Amino acid sequence: MQTRTLGTTGPQTPALGLGCMGMSALYGDSDRAESLATVHAALEAGITLLDTGDFYGMGHNELLINEALRTAPAAARERALLSVKFGALRTVEGGFSGYDGRPKAVKNFAAYSLQRLGADHIDIYRIARIDPDVPVEETVGAIAELVEAGHVRHIGLSEVGAHTLRRAAAVAPISDLQIEYSLVSRGIEESILPTARELGIGITAYGVLSRGLISGHFSRERTLAPNDFRGRSPRFQGENLDRNLDLVDALRKIAEQKGVSVAQIAIAWVLSRGEDIVPLVGARRRDRLTEALGALDVALDDGDLAAIERAVPPGAAAGDRYPADQMAHLDSEH
Ligand SMILES: NC(=O)c1ccc[n+]([C@@H]2O[C@H](COP(=O)([O-])OP(=O)(O)OC[C@H]3O[C@@H](n4cnc5c(N)ncnc54)[C@H](OP(=O)(O)O)[C@@H]3O)[C@@H](O)[C@H]2O)c1
Repeated sequence: MQTRTLGTTGPQTPALGLGCMGMSALYGDSDRAESLATVHAALEAGITLLDTGDFYGMGHNELLINEALRTAPAAARERALLSVKFGALRTVEGGFSGYDGRPKAVKNFAAYSLQRLGADHIDIYRIARIDPDVPVEETVGAIAELVEAGHVRHIGLSEVGAHTLRRAAAVAPISDLQIEYSLVSRGIEESILPTARELGIGITAYGVLSRGLISGHFSRERTLAPNDFRGRSPRFQGENLDRNLDLVDALRKIAEQKGVSVAQIAIAWVLSRGEDIVPLVGARRRDRLTEALGALDVALDDGDLAAIERAVPPGAAAGDRYPADQMAHLDSEH
């Protein structure tokens, strides 16, 4: 497995990580046995970086990872790196009601996560969204205390802008910023990515397939379940969806010429953006994982990269990457 290092202080990771969210939440129902088999297949292939959040299915995802690790060969279990997000507050009905980044809450979230994961430490711990009522210095300071106590190895951030990156990095070493980055979500390129590079902070990129939109497997005919986030995502609606799938058709031509799949082109493009970027792929089935792994063997030369940029120029996507109420929580967008 090719490896990368997260920032100047973070761990060495495989060049791809596995995002486990879709196995428990947000993309409609998923198959538990297939999810477990996918985590096992990922570990077997050397994808040791597993990304989760305590709020993905309200603990469901952490318990799933616990089970996957318990039933994996000991060597694979020991190599696993757990990247965990916390802070999102849930309602009984399944909604989201805000974020809690108070130091006391951070330690409470960590205690529950360690228990659910069956782990004695978390490799990278981060708040999912900044709590607007708590200075980031206090939230990061609390994680730094968890590092000091041996419960956490590295501190990460999620969806923050350049200013917040600087404030957080002044408190403690930050391994990586987890943020959406793909051919159709290039917002980080202007100031966030250069700032992360200046500060020696790596990037774990999510949504590299724009939640399946640019995977080559999504179609206008697909009906989404009521509990599928994509049913509310602006990019998957009406004319936006039509325009975005036209971009995918343009990418498909390039993929066909190279004898690879659209998803592999999209993942390989993110991999090509720098050694400091580790794409998290949201595979929840073994066939999708195998396809994603194939991206590691796709070499994109200057001609390929230029053709990809012509097919999907920066800013080409129609629609915001989140519904308006969720855009408001993104420090990275302000
Ligand atoms: N920090 C944050 O704010 C944040 C936000 C979102 C996600 N994340 C993390 O990032 C991870 C990845 O995000 P994501 O799931 O939105 O990313 P993604 O990889 O862009 O989308 C994953 C979806 O794409 C579809 N897909 C089609 N072909 C695929 C292939 N070959 N490999 C993988 N997926 C394929 C699948 O949908 P179907 O199975 O429906 O076909 C899958 O559910 C999450 O699991 C989570 O850990 C973090």
